[in-house]
Amino acid sequence: SMKALSLSLSPTSPPVFLTQDELKKVAAYKAVEFVESGMVLGLGTGSTAKHAVDRIGELLCQGKLNNIIGIPTSKKTQEQAISLGIPLSDLDTHPTIDLAIDGADEVDPQLNLVKGRGGSLLREKMVEGACKKFVCIVDESKLVKYLGGSGLALPIEVVPFCWKFTADKLGNLFRDSGCVARLRNDCKGDPFVTDNGNYIVDLFLKKDIGDLQVAGDAILRIAGVVEHGMFLDMATTVIVAGELGITIKNK
Ligand code: 5RP
Repeated sequence: SMKALSLSLSPTSPPVFLTQDELKKVAAYKAVEFVESGMVLGLGTGSTAKHAVDRIGELLCQGKLNNIIGIPTSKKTQEQAISLGIPLSDLDTHPTIDLAIDGADEVDPQLNLVKGRGGSLLREKMVEGACKKFVCIVDESKLVKYLGGSGLALPIEVVPFCWKFTADKLGNLFRDSGCVARLRNDCKGDPFVTDNGNYIVDLFLKKDIGDLQVAGDAILRIAGVVEHGMFLDMATTVIVAGELGITIKNK
């Protein structure tokens, strides 16, 4: 059952309008309240997760948290955590993670997610799949009626070898949904390369793709596909920060 709890940020004072980045920070700080000393923590990637990692580093530095071990989901987060003095490990050494905190690009009403706009979906899926609890943190702009509903892409990590062949197969899979498959480029116009040396094909879906599990399985059956950005039934909690306060949705 899904329970939603709304907390007002300032019940008596006049409304304060927060920027999107401030809302991301509100959600991130709330999630870090779930962190306890001694935990193995999955550290997410992106502008929202960055606030959570900063906060964890700050609490460690202040001695308010102890014996934390971080498992980063990207090279970027690894660098950030090292700069904050957060002790790090990996999934080989710590195959079970107590809690992961990470952002998302889209959240549907069942708490299914789209991730990977930052390109870190494979490591995120490995780490978040190994967690007892996965707290997803978003500002309210990420809420959608169905995955793909924001008009943003569904990212697919593919091997560079004959990526056009793989992209065509991906596009054909969702042709009925008016799907356009496009290779992601970096700012120089070269193919964007993931931390794992792969490419990203962005799928622009024009409408609801139906059963997400079926769609995800069909994507994974295409040779050349490494992983897709749908995180189905993985988030145990989603913390949404909006202008009217924080909403906590539990699976
Ligand atoms: C990276 C991700 C991010 O969590 C997602 O893109 C959200 O990013 P942001 O917090 O910057 O809005 O999945 O692969």
